[in-house]
Amino acid sequence: MWKIPLADLRLHPDDHTAVLEVLASNWLTMGPKTQEFEAAFAKALDPDNPPFCYAVSNCTVGLHMAFAALDLGPGDEVIVPSLTFVATANAALYTGATVVLADVTSEADLTLSIDDVLAKITPRTRCVVPVHYAGQPCDMARLKRECDLRGIAVVEDVAHAPLADALLQDQDPAQALGTIGALGCFSFFSNKNMTTGEGGMVVTRDPLLADKLRLLRSHGMTTLTLDRHRGHAYTYDVVAAGFNYRIDELRAALGLSQLGRLPENNRRRGDVVEFYRQKLTRIEGLLLPFAQRLPQGRTAPHILPVLLPAGLVRQAVQEKMKEAGIQTSVHYPPIHTFSHHSESPLVRGESLPLTDAVAPRLLTLPLYPELSESDVDLVVQSLQWSIDQVRAAM
Ligand SMILES: Cc1ncc(COP(=O)(O)O)c(C=O)c1O
Repeated sequence: MWKIPLADLRLHPDDHTAVLEVLASNWLTMGPKTQEFEAAFAKALDPDNPPFCYAVSNCTVGLHMAFAALDLGPGDEVIVPSLTFVATANAALYTGATVVLADVTSEADLTLSIDDVLAKITPRTRCVVPVHYAGQPCDMARLKRECDLRGIAVVEDVAHAPLADALLQDQDPAQALGTIGALGCFSFFSNKNMTTGEGGMVVTRDPLLADKLRLLRSHGMTTLTLDRHRGHAYTYDVVAAGFNYRIDELRAALGLSQLGRLPENNRRRGDVVEFYRQKLTRIEGLLLPFAQRLPQGRTAPHILPVLLPAGLVRQAVQEKMKEAGIQTSVHYPPIHTFSHHSESPLVRGESLPLTDAVAPRLLTLPLYPELSESDVDLVVQSLQWSIDQVRAAM
């Protein structure tokens, strides 16, 4: 249907083999493949000092588990950007906490504004959730410093940015996103930079939080089915009202296989972004956020949001792009504009002027590792044509 889709999942023969091997092994629920996947993910994040990693059924439950491990509950406040996927806020709402929505930094930097976070901190603020939107790091150096000073936990939403780094201090080596805050949560949904279909990973460097995550992932039970199968345990105690947020072996095997190709795919995504950066300058009035940013170590571009020239009706542009065979999307309708969240007494969405200004202009263009320079040319030419057509009809 599309000449160029928004994202394109291309599974490798190794992915098929990995999953089939698990099927043949007769052990499908969380077990040794999951442990292998977690160890490999931890090493990929930081080979010298691997963090604790727990694979889960998806990033949304991973975020919930992270908030539960921090004992968030009614009366606590969690600061979340309004410009994110709704799961970031919903997972905090599951705990009964209040979600306070914060603004983006600028038109050119759509990550969380640390100035706005500071303005919205109250004595009840327990947690801030930077979302590394589009694969671009938030200002983690400043956020971590400010939150550490106030005893506020940072939970990174790293759904868009697996194996991207951020610099905390100029002289120090860059650190993997997801390992800087108290906890980091990754998504392996099928449109992400690496996928397990549905899946996620929760990461921490704190051994106490790690113990809590391990228990919360599996009903608060002190032993696992695998321990009992191996004869290492005969019974169990339950020490928390935990969840069943486990991944399974099929998805862990797929994750391991995908992880092997992630650095190369992230690099190719970077090349595609560079093509866009060069070619989009042709379109007058269009803004490419993050275009001026310098890499802070490894990069993991995930989506390609642009800001359309002001005054155009976005949906009209999207319809023309569809006519040209190019799929587009919007990341994201801001959380404070949703019916549930705008009416909920547990969501505070005041004073978000920059988010309100950029939201109607946001358009996401196709981005995946296999896009060629001529594909990007076609997308950019189609966008120019679409804008011209919409202007002519105004
Ligand atoms: C920023 C962000 N956070 C959280 C999630 C939730 O991830 P999952 O679908 O794995 O639950 C997503 C998924 O699209 C996301 O983009």
